[in-house]
Amino acid sequence: MAATALGQIWARKLLPVPWFLCGPRRCASSSFKAADLQLEMTQEPHKKPGPGETLMFGKTFTDHMLMVEWTLEKGWGCPHIKPFQNLTLHPASSSLHYSIQLFEGLKAYKGGDQRVRLFRPWLNMDRMLRSTLRLCLPPFDKAELLECIRQLIQVDQDWVPGGAGTSLYVRPVLLGTEPSLGVGSISQALLFVILCPVGSYFPGGSVTPVSLLADPKYIRAWVGGVGDCKLGGNYGPTVFVQQEAQKKGCEQVLWLYGPDHQLTEVGTMNIFVYWTHEDGALELVTPPLDGIILPGVVRQSLLDLAQSWGEFRVVERKITMKELVRALEEGRVREVFGSGTACQVSPVHRILYQGQQLHIPTMENGPELILRFQKELKAIQYGTGAHEWILPV
Ligand code: COI
Repeated sequence: MAATALGQIWARKLLPVPWFLCGPRRCASSSFKAADLQLEMTQEPHKKPGPGETLMFGKTFTDHMLMVEWTLEKGWGCPHIKPFQNLTLHPASSSLHYSIQLFEGLKAYKGGDQRVRLFRPWLNMDRMLRSTLRLCLPPFDKAELLECIRQLIQVDQDWVPGGAGTSLYVRPVLLGTEPSLGVGSISQALLFVILCPVGSYFPGGSVTPVSLLADPKYIRAWVGGVGDCKLGGNYGPTVFVQQEAQKKGCEQVLWLYGPDHQLTEVGTMNIFVYWTHEDGALELVTPPLDGIILPGVVRQSLLDLAQSWGEFRVVERKITMKELVRALEEGRVREVFGSGTACQVSPVHRILYQGQQLHIPTMENGPELILRFQKELKAIQYGTGAHEWILPV
């Protein structure tokens, strides 16, 4: 029997394929390796945005991208850094029909010394691998992907903006490219990474509060589902609800869950409440990672920072609308805010719930905690010294 045919049998049984059946391809394996990166530089570099130019989130892309293909037969191919380009997909690709697709979002920052640094990218790699396993997409070595991303950013480092509040948003994506309409595990996949220079979420560096629609008839995620994974399929269906919120004069959605109307997330962000608890203790509370909450990197960072200060109680616990309404009535709420990679920390000033406009006194209270978090995060992200959360590019 020919070596390739034997190799196919081996691969279908998901056994490690011995090297002598792999054919001449040096790269194909259980993970791609950054050492095998192949670089093709663009011959047509685009004009970079000027220093004063407004950078809308996700609208401007750099000159290069990372691409790695996988097949069940051959495993991962060599990683390529290529000119930014359109993808060619079979119209039956499983990602297009059944949302066999996941993504990540992380940021690189340019410090005062003009050097570029990634913020806690290891947490994104951990989450990306968890999403990958949940969708039965091919696993990879997280350190190798991170090194490929680092090298991609190096290639496009002149695209990293340097103005206040700006950054380079890094968007890794993994999708099934199976050319079949059958619903099943895939035998072809594509991993790619694109980069966007992005501006300050809040122009002028100020904090603009958002209003929220809290309607329990809309549910973002549920127990036993995939709310804790970063899948495109979790985000597309939220656009309708976002539009409903806007029709009712609100900017974002407060996602509730369960008969007790638990607060879970806000828009595409995690949620935090800073209040005096019923027991009299000043605390910062966010819902626990019970399967319906996305384990946000900024969420974890706020918890870590607040814990390190040791000035108030920091807790991951269920929060219900009943508790929030009572705390508002009793004047115990200090600040409510969302956290996410895109906006970092975003204050909430109003919630429309069961026909009632609930005023949240976040801005009247400084917002002391939000501003402190923003200052501390900025110092780490744009700082020029070493920090355990920072990976120099
Ligand atoms: C984030 O802020 O963490 C995001 O993932 C936002 C993105 C869905 C636009």
